[in-house]
Amino acid sequence: MRVDLVTIFPAYFHVLDFSLMGRAREAGLLDVVVHDLRGWTADRHRTVDDAPYGGGAGMVMRADVWGRALDEVLAAPPTPPEADEEGGDAPEPVLDPHAPPRRRILAFPTPSGVPLTQAIAQDLAGADQLVIACGRYEGIDQRVADHYRDQEVEVLEYSIGDYVLNGGEAAALVLVEAVARLLDGVLGNPESLVEESYSAAGLLEYPVYTRPRSWRGIETPEVLLSGDHARIARWRRDRSLVRTARRRPDLIDALDAKDLDGRDREV
Ligand code: ADE
Repeated sequence: MRVDLVTIFPAYFHVLDFSLMGRAREAGLLDVVVHDLRGWTADRHRTVDDAPYGGGAGMVMRADVWGRALDEVLAAPPTPPEADEEGGDAPEPVLDPHAPPRRRILAFPTPSGVPLTQAIAQDLAGADQLVIACGRYEGIDQRVADHYRDQEVEVLEYSIGDYVLNGGEAAALVLVEAVARLLDGVLGNPESLVEESYSAAGLLEYPVYTRPRSWRGIETPEVLLSGDHARIARWRRDRSLVRTARRRPDLIDALDAKDLDGRDREV
């Protein structure tokens, strides 16, 4: 997958050189390109914003600057194939006339977007290109998202939570990590994704423990040391239910009654 990040703070994304994301990039599973929005400004001061029509506080990012940037970034070619083992040149990409159209997503982090969920991340993991337009100040002129929605691009205005950040960069990092870890080959142990998909069934994860067995007088729950897999599974499910009821009662309300067994109702 190719990810393009457009921002006025390119240095913000240096963290993507490290850890799981850095390894995914080295392995050629993920191609991340960071662009400085000011490269598409047309004046000496490299202006990206202006006062809002209708008045009010703050500044709005200009549609003309964003339009020039996004036209160019969305026209970027797909990630080229890796060079072969002997270090030879990568083969020329062959254009297949029967290939499905490339799936391009243009995402705008904004506190007024739809809440980002695991289901959205899962869907985006199937895209060929993910472009994230990071706004600052009071946001990006609304015509930008509206314009590209009319092109062959899927537009997503998303929020990472009910709080306001200074700009979209932190929310862009969140989206990149949520999507990239779902790509084939990125996680060392894809089993963890299977476990997570159970929690995506609507409950929070149960608490986890590892050695030492006793730490500062706090014992590991005895059931986890029992080797009794059925008891362990039941205990974990109970802890998930209790935790979810306390911390996210909205998720309990949203559960489908047919997914609850008799014991669940007792918890
Ligand atoms: N930009 C500012 N606040 C944000 C939020 N909560 N989610 C996504 N983008 C944002």
